[in-house]
Formats: sequence, C-alpha cells, structure tokens
Amino acid sequence: MVADLSQSAFLKAARGEAVPHTPVWFMRQAGRSLPEYLKVREGVAMLDSCMNADLITEITLQPVRRYGTDAAIFFSDIVLPLKAVGVDLDIKPGVGPVIANPVRTLADVAAIPDLTPEHVPFITQAVKNLVAELGATPLIGFAGAPFTVASYLIEGGPSKEYAKTKALMFGAPDIWDALMRKIAGISAAFLEVQVGAGASAIQLFDSWAGASTVADYRERVMPYSSMVLERAGRLGVPRIHFGVNTGHLLGLMGEAGADVVGVDWRTPLADGIAAAGDRGVQGNLDPTLVFAPTELMLARAAEVIETGRSATGHIFNLGHGVIPTTDPDQLKRLTEYVQSYPLA
Ligand code: CP3
Repeated sequence: MVADLSQSAFLKAARGEAVPHTPVWFMRQAGRSLPEYLKVREGVAMLDSCMNADLITEITLQPVRRYGTDAAIFFSDIVLPLKAVGVDLDIKPGVGPVIANPVRTLADVAAIPDLTPEHVPFITQAVKNLVAELGATPLIGFAGAPFTVASYLIEGGPSKEYAKTKALMFGAPDIWDALMRKIAGISAAFLEVQVGAGASAIQLFDSWAGASTVADYRERVMPYSSMVLERAGRLGVPRIHFGVNTGHLLGLMGEAGADVVGVDWRTPLADGIAAAGDRGVQGNLDPTLVFAPTELMLARAAEVIETGRSATGHIFNLGHGVIPTTDPDQLKRLTEYVQSYPLA
C-alpha cells in the first residue's frame, strides 16, 4: 500500500503551500541524544551501523516514534558514500570523519570511483523499509555538498580554518575543479538512490560553506552545489539547502537550486526570509535553548513561528543539529508546542 503523503505539513511547507500547522523536525534528531540510540549502537561502529539496513531503519524511526516529528531524516553520514566507493576513512566518536590518505593530487582524485547503486544496496533497502514503516510521515534523504565533503577529504579530518582546503581551492584550481566535480557526482548519485527508493525530500548539507566569502562562494563553491541540486531537481522532490554561519550566503544558497533555504540561529529568521525571496525557509531556534527553562525555550519558539508566517513556507527546526546532551523531553515539549501552535 502506498501511504498518502499529500497531506504532509512538511511537504506542503516545502512547496510553499498552506499548512495545517508549522511542521517540525530536528537536524541530528537520529543520534546521540537518545538513550534508545545509544542502546542499539552499543558495540557497533558508526560506519558499520550506516551500512546495516535494519539498524538504519530502526535509528531513523526512533525520533519519529518519540517526538512525532513531521519528517524523518535518513540515518547515515555525509562521508558514507565515500566509504561505500572504497575511500579509507572512519568516523571517530567525538571527532567526526577521519581520512587515512588526504587528497593532494589529480591522481588522488582520479582514484576515487564514482558511486553507483551497487555500492549502496543497504541504502536502497533501508529507504524501502522506512517508507513502508513511516506511512504518512515523509522521509528526508540527504547528502553532503561538495565543499563540506571536500574539506574532510583534503584536511584529513575536522578543521577550524580550512587552511589546506582553501590552499587547494586558491592554488590548484584544476585539482579543486576535479575534486568538486567528483564529489558532486557522488552526492547526486547518493540522493538519486535515496529518492529512487522512496525518499520524498532531500537536504543538501553544506555545513562548513560559511567559511567562504561571498565572491569565493559564488565562483568556487556554488557551481558544484548547483550541479548536485540540479540533478536532484530532476527527481521532483523538494530540496533543502543548509549550512552553518551562512548568513552572508543565504541568497546564493537559494539561487544554487534550493526550494527551501536552511537558516542557522545566528541570522534572524526575518533576514533569512528576505534573503530566500520566494523560496521557503527552515529553522532556526538556537540549539542551546533546550538548556534554558522550558518557558523561555517555548517563548523563543513562538517568535520563530510568528516570524515564519511571512515566509513562502516555513519548516521549524533548530539552527543546527541537536546537541548530544539535549534532554529528549525538552524536544518532545518543543515538538508538541510547534505542532499545536495556532496559525489562524
Ligand atoms: O540525525 C540525523 O541528522 C541523521 C543522521 C546524520 C548523521 N550525520 C549521523 C551522525 C546526518 C544527517 C549527518 C550529516 C553530517 N555528518 C554532517 C552535516 C550536518 C551537520 O551536522 O552539520 C556533517 C558535517 C557530518 C560529519 C560528521 N559525522 C560529524 C561532524 C560528526 C560528529 C562528530 C562527533 O561525534 O561530535 C559525525 C558523526 C555522526 N554522524 C554521529 C551521528 C549520529 C555521531 C556518531 C556516534 O554516535 O558515534
């Protein structure tokens, strides 16, 4: 039986249509803030869990069961496709992705295979399981944008300044172009697998794109994100485009080919709405407000919802991911508050 997603508040908002209530989900909702997640992950390495269809399915469903969010986010990681094609990497607890042999040369880029569906059968299977289990709750597929994924491949791990990344971007345009095209192809193929198996929206994470100036973003980053978003656009599902510290880039991130622009908490939502123009917006409660008294958290949520009314479509979210020490009960209260907030 195919579930009826036509009434989904999340999909309606993403398309700029009228909504029954402001839809809400949380970036990093499927992860370390949930005791049931820690339990199923016991003794299982992060990347192993991302390659096991049953675990992916269970972890993706956990926050939907607990909070009743308006969308599920697929449990995986932005570097999983690289792992799947054979790049030697790991996700270290508390650190993030670590690459054994960072990319330096054109030969290093050429050695990275393109992604085909045969590399990720567990993704196809997990999406199919999830679509069946989720019923009327839409599943968001995702991928990492070329700049953010390139930063891990070039730095070899997380970075503060992106010095090596930018040295390559400025100093070796041919290698940069080859690497960014390679990642764009892999990320687009990863999205195609997820949507092909039934995901009903996608989010492109360019978490670290905010490190670029407007001019460098336009010339050296955005064209490659556009390649991914353009291919995703042919799949006919709404596209969300998000990065942290991207207040200065929001207009361009929309123009890159997004239907919805993700706004972090540093940028007032009204400014994000103005930058997004006739596109929708997603965000943007400060993720640390869950540590404030509940009344204050909800009062700030009300401000976000009220501001969001003037957008072409507004999806409520935090301005970045759920912080691991977040009390799930606070997110439960927040979800119920957003969903029952009167819009009339
Ligand atoms: O809940 C969800 O959002 C779905 C799953 C998801 C994960 N990573 C699981 C994960 C998603 C959408 C991502 C995307 C991702 N991965 C991004 C973009 C989103 C963002 O937060 O800006 C980035 C930059 C990465 C790379 C990455 N992977 C980082 C920075 C980390 C955190 C390092 C740490 O431990 O603090 C990871 C690891 C990771 N990805 C975890 C999870 C649940 C923690 C792994 C664990 O439980 O050991």
